[in-house]
Amino acid sequence: MSTYILGIESSCDDTSASVIKDNIILSNIIANQKVHHKYGGVVPELASRSHQQNIIPVIHSALMEANINKNQLHAIAFTRGPGLLGSLLVGTSFAKSFAMGLKIPLIEIDHLQAHILAHFAQKPNQPKDTPNFPFLCLTVSGGHTQIVRVDSYFQMQIIGQTIDDAAGEAFDKSAKIMGLPYPGGPVIDKLAKSGDPNRFVFPIPQIPNLDYSFSGLKTSILYFLRDQLKLDNDFIEKNKNHIAASIQHTIVKILLKKLVKASESTGIKEIAIAGGVSANSGLRTAIKNGEKEYSWKTYIPNFEFTTDNAAMIAITGLFKYREGLFSDQKSAPYTRSVLKT
Ligand code: KG4
Ligand code: ZN
Repeated sequence: MSTYILGIESSCDDTSASVIKDNIILSNIIANQKVHHKYGGVVPELASRSHQQNIIPVIHSALMEANINKNQLHAIAFTRGPGLLGSLLVGTSFAKSFAMGLKIPLIEIDHLQAHILAHFAQKPNQPKDTPNFPFLCLTVSGGHTQIVRVDSYFQMQIIGQTIDDAAGEAFDKSAKIMGLPYPGGPVIDKLAKSGDPNRFVFPIPQIPNLDYSFSGLKTSILYFLRDQLKLDNDFIEKNKNHIAASIQHTIVKILLKKLVKASESTGIKEIAIAGGVSANSGLRTAIKNGEKEYSWKTYIPNFEFTTDNAAMIAITGLFKYREGLFSDQKSAPYTRSVLKT
């Protein structure tokens, strides 16, 4: 018999619901919150209010698109954390009451574990290779930058991570310095396509082990542009494609350097990427090139599973369901991931 799981994601500024039938995604509805754009970042209070408005319509659409009745669901999986508390509370509270009403198990999910396990969810009639254990996953989002060693669905260890800004923040903050709209990552990606990545050179930080740092990059971009603007007021406008390409090239280079080191030190050549920044075209190409350069087997998610989505919550829920790893009504949001270093 097939297992139907409803996944609910509300950790930041996307309200999402997804229904899966075993590992097949029947629906994955995402309501983005445009309200934050004019503030240049996510405003927590506005995010929770929008989740509150969106959650019922989004879940309704997910059930409709999956063409199933709520009584067919076997369990409700929800993001317990990490994320914004007010946002998490909306999804958590809804999931608890829905599971209680339907008298089915409630399953709490760690958002970062889910970004990684998104690789195991399949779109109907579009089978994709899934990573073999053990594999390394570079999780790069607006809040996290981690190299995770994945030994099984539930055995994951962070072997490297940022000591300051996340890769997504590096994109977003650089974009802000350039006067580009939020979120800056996709905007830089687009501009970079027609720019010269070697036109401007920014320093690569020297950080020990497998850890990352991006705060120095932000400062060097700030000083570089400040100096150039003194010479030419239109410097950014005239060079925005080259600046974007050079910034993207530097961020990708920083990310790759430690991932290569991690692969060499662990001997693992199964390499996956996850999280919002894994949508970046420069990063996707660089990872793919690793197949030739380092004999990697790489796993690059479909675009819709890079940024926050509930399909990743539902698939992680399926694995926990199979193990009987259920939660009770006392489950409360947390802000720190369960993944260990
Ligand atoms: O995973 P995600 O949706 O949310 C978090 O959990 O943080 O990631 C959002 C981040 C933002 O910083 C956004 O700028 C970045 O992912 N991002 C990108 C691209 N698309 C999204 N960064 C670079 N290039 C992209 N194409
Ligand atoms: Zn995320």
